[in-house]
Amino acid sequence: MTKEIKNICCIGAGYVGGPTMAVIAEKCPQYVVTVVDINAERISAWNDADLSKLPVYEPGLADIIAKQRGKNLFFSTDVDGAIEKAEMVFMSVNTPTKTYGEGKGMAADLKFIEKSARQIARVSTSDKIVIEKSTLPVRTAQAIKTILNAEKKEGVNFEILSNPEFLAEGTAIEDLRNADRMLIGGDIHTKSGKEAVDALVGVYSNWLPKERLLTTNVWSSELSKLTANAFLAQRVSSINAISALCEKTGANVEEVGRAIGADSRIGPKFLNASVGFGGSCFQKDILNLVYLCNYFGLPEVAEYWHQVIKLNDYQKKRFSHNIISTLFNTVSDKKISLLGWAFKKDTNDTRESAAIYIASDLIENQANVCVYDPKVSKEQILKDLAYLHELDNVKYAHLTEKTINDRVEIVSDPYLACSESHALAIMTEWDEFTTYDWNKIYNSVYKPAFVFDGRNIVDKEELENIGFDVFSVGR
Ligand code: NAD
Ligand code: UGA
Repeated sequence: MTKEIKNICCIGAGYVGGPTMAVIAEKCPQYVVTVVDINAERISAWNDADLSKLPVYEPGLADIIAKQRGKNLFFSTDVDGAIEKAEMVFMSVNTPTKTYGEGKGMAADLKFIEKSARQIARVSTSDKIVIEKSTLPVRTAQAIKTILNAEKKEGVNFEILSNPEFLAEGTAIEDLRNADRMLIGGDIHTKSGKEAVDALVGVYSNWLPKERLLTTNVWSSELSKLTANAFLAQRVSSINAISALCEKTGANVEEVGRAIGADSRIGPKFLNASVGFGGSCFQKDILNLVYLCNYFGLPEVAEYWHQVIKLNDYQKKRFSHNIISTLFNTVSDKKISLLGWAFKKDTNDTRESAAIYIASDLIENQANVCVYDPKVSKEQILKDLAYLHELDNVKYAHLTEKTINDRVEIVSDPYLACSESHALAIMTEWDEFTTYDWNKIYNSVYKPAFVFDGRNIVDKEELENIGFDVFSVGR
């Protein structure tokens, strides 16, 4: 098995592949890092001279791309060429929830991983360390190994490692430069397995202290990734559950969060009540965990984790129901302005964003929805709504092309978005929302002037003094 690493290939130039490889290239000038993708449009955006056109928005990312691209960081559609040249191949392709067949709506769809594994086996004429960077069900490495060994050329050896990614969007660059831990799962009981683990430890040792490089067996590594996301999402659902009780009892969820977070065993992070969590992974990974538990005959464990998703769905519904009931039980033909569409601030990612579901509920109730987001494109917003209909044309029967065209407006000026609205709803915690001239907004909206703050970011008292009726989460 090869030990000296010169060329690294990453299959998948998405939210993980792009930033992760950018930081490896930044921290390890001795390696040539090539990120490949079958999506030519995405690769061409990564290569765009105009850095505002990069396909992923992350604070700090454009600076690294400007420094490393063309030096030791390359973006290409030549997947075969990059695999063949590399000693180390990261698989960072998407693993969405299955939308068809067995496991539909629950299991992870591994077709992109399988295709990548077959391609690696077909193309490789030299030994490679193959690394699972994508989030995968526990024991997927076994399937990858079987595929690689069945299709490989004679004399070529593969070693498979699990190296899940823990970055959070919006803070990806800082999370990568200063990771709490880097998890590497491998078979250290064989000589070549140990060499492969050491090689990957060697890569990360270029900038991370040794004590943060955790090595485990492959199955523990795969399962730790799903478990970490499940625990994080569970915290959000737990505080959101308490937010509902706060609203009934006069307790304030922020005060409750501060009080429990001061206990060092609980800690203060991830206790912000919200309109509901979004993002491409929390829901997908928990559904996958639920599927696995059921598969292994553990229905009670499956149901325990499923509640985290159910509570999140309840929180989103509760939010849209509150808008409708507060607006005298009807939003029909009223203009409701959504501030923010991304699933959290400082990213242009909208996957599973709560805003999509709130908009859908409002449109179903015949509202006219006007959206402003500082980083998300008009095309993406329309695509997100159309996708729900594509996914389930019974549940989302109301999201026809015509209804979306008639009822959804997307603007690039927040004041224009708010003007002549019957209600404003804050969907994403973008910092700029707190700096707006709320007097000016107040003067441009219908009265009573309602603000539904799904992120608890605006100063409730200040807005109430202006004249707004402010509804926040759990306060
Ligand atoms: P993404 O959809 O942004 O990117 C995946 C890319 O892989 C796409 O551009 C797609 O075209 C490409 N791809 C698919 N099949 C391919 C193939 N056969 N050859 C070449 N390219 C191919 O997804 P992402 O958000 O980067 O997530 C990737 C994985 O990382 C997922 O398993 C996810 O669960 C995990 N993850 C994501 C995050 C996150 O913050 N987004 C964080 C940690 C882990
Ligand atoms: C999450 C994890 O934090 C990462 O460790 C993991 O690598 C990643 O998923 C993944 O596997 O994809 P991400 O989804 O990018 O990262 O962002 P988070 O900061 O975790 O936020 C997720 C959602 O929870 C967002 O919608 C956020 O607004 C919401 N949230 C978070 C709350 O509502 N309240 C909180 O207190 C924290």
